[in-house]
Amino acid sequence: MFKSIKIQPCKNNVGAIIDTDIQSADPECINEIKIALDEFGVVFFRKQNLDSSAYVSFAKQFGTPADYPMLEGLNKFPEITVVEKKPEEQIMFGEGWHTDSTYTPEPPQYTMLYSIKTPPKGKGNTLFASQYESYQKLPGELKEKIQSLKAVFSADGPISKTRNNRVAEKGTGIDPKSMSAIHSIVKTNANNKKKSLYLSPGHVTEIVGMDKEESKKLLKYLFEHQSKPEFVYGFEWEPNCLAIWSNHVMLHNPVNDFTGIHRVMHRITIQ
Ligand SMILES: [Fe+2]
Repeated sequence: MFKSIKIQPCKNNVGAIIDTDIQSADPECINEIKIALDEFGVVFFRKQNLDSSAYVSFAKQFGTPADYPMLEGLNKFPEITVVEKKPEEQIMFGEGWHTDSTYTPEPPQYTMLYSIKTPPKGKGNTLFASQYESYQKLPGELKEKIQSLKAVFSADGPISKTRNNRVAEKGTGIDPKSMSAIHSIVKTNANNKKKSLYLSPGHVTEIVGMDKEESKKLLKYLFEHQSKPEFVYGFEWEPNCLAIWSNHVMLHNPVNDFTGIHRVMHRITIQ
């Protein structure tokens, strides 16, 4: 299936490591990375050497960079959002299971994260949970039940407080209470027809049209199910790594298990 890239699936078949210099990726290679994303949900590249200009050029081969509504990007490269935890801070941006910008009408398909400064290897991992796998392992009758359900995804959900430090510095002034969207909670990948559970615990507030108590009970069950250990892989960062994931397939959760160290990532989301 893969001719241009060397690919090694990760534990639990969640994600894959690709051994390639992405600056020299030709269109065939980019195409195979997209196929790998459809298949594994997230791919990782180590030992890259990307400056911001090369990073943005690479990213644009996957689609149009999306605007992140909550924060300003870098001055010279507005497509790049700085995701960081400063040495004196306790809260980590984006901690908790979620998928990105689900409160927008068309959430970005891909997110890319490039590591600039990281804590020692093994700290500040990002956990990824495959929602292909989590959907697949739902009981049959529940799969039926949720097939046509939709949920409310709010920018003011439980994860919103993890943005506060960054919003204070580089916020766009948008009130998170003003941003919400409704999406189907089961997605089908148009390329390989695989189904995934599309729910973001950091954003989802209720199932549309369902009794409040029943909605709460169902969401609690699904949120717990989504991140069971057998669906999860934790990526260990070091500087100069790139992760690309499909927001339609993966949940992610950066582990906040360090202090006193500056962790800096450059993020680009792709529409
Ligand atoms: Fe995120």
